[in-house]
Amino acid sequence: MHELGVLDVNSAYAYMLIGEHHASTSVVTEIGGELVGFITAYILPEKPDTVFVWQVGVAKEGRGRGLATRMLFDILLRDACSNVRYLDTTIGPSNEPSQSLFRSLARRLDTGIEESELFSSDMFGEFESDEPHEPEILFRIGPFDRAAVERASE
Ligand SMILES: CC(C)(COP(=O)(O)OP(=O)(O)OC[C@H]1O[C@@H](n2cnc3c(N)ncnc32)[C@H](O)[C@@H]1OP(=O)(O)O)[C@@H](O)C(=O)NCCC(=O)NCCS
Repeated sequence: MHELGVLDVNSAYAYMLIGEHHASTSVVTEIGGELVGFITAYILPEKPDTVFVWQVGVAKEGRGRGLATRMLFDILLRDACSNVRYLDTTIGPSNEPSQSLFRSLARRLDTGIEESELFSSDMFGEFESDEPHEPEILFRIGPFDRAAVERASE
């Protein structure tokens, strides 16, 4: 899974920390030993009713078949998410596939989305010198309850 395009690539250490500390809210999908999809996510420390989805990636050849949606439900159905009523994520304004994914999730859960800017483009400018980084728009999906997750995942 080397050509995800729009996803920021984090350090190996960041991915190892997610695996070490947040495996109960993260997922990988492998087919024949090949990684075809992953989600990194964690419960917000100050908001135990909110799971924050950091990155979702599906290999190009696996897209458009519901894999990202299935991985999101896999996480939401776990015991670690039994108290979760909101899903937060951030999306760049030009990332239509990702916006479609999360709008579709909200529809399936029969709930709303509040949008607000979490990180402006300027804030990334301090860290990245080449291409300007898009702002990251916070999508807060909810409220939903366990029954809605179970119904929507059937
Ligand atoms: C975004 C991404 C994870 C979607 O994965 P996927 O497995 O193809 O998504 P799904 O098949 O579960 O589709 C979910 C919904 O999004 C829609 N969708 C998916 N890709 C789309 C696209 N390119 N354009 C428009 N809609 C799209 C689907 O039609 C579906 O909607 P529906 O439920 O109303 O039918 C994948 O395109 C990807 O890895 N992109 C690159 C990395 C990225 O941008 N990650 C997100 C930011 S962290």
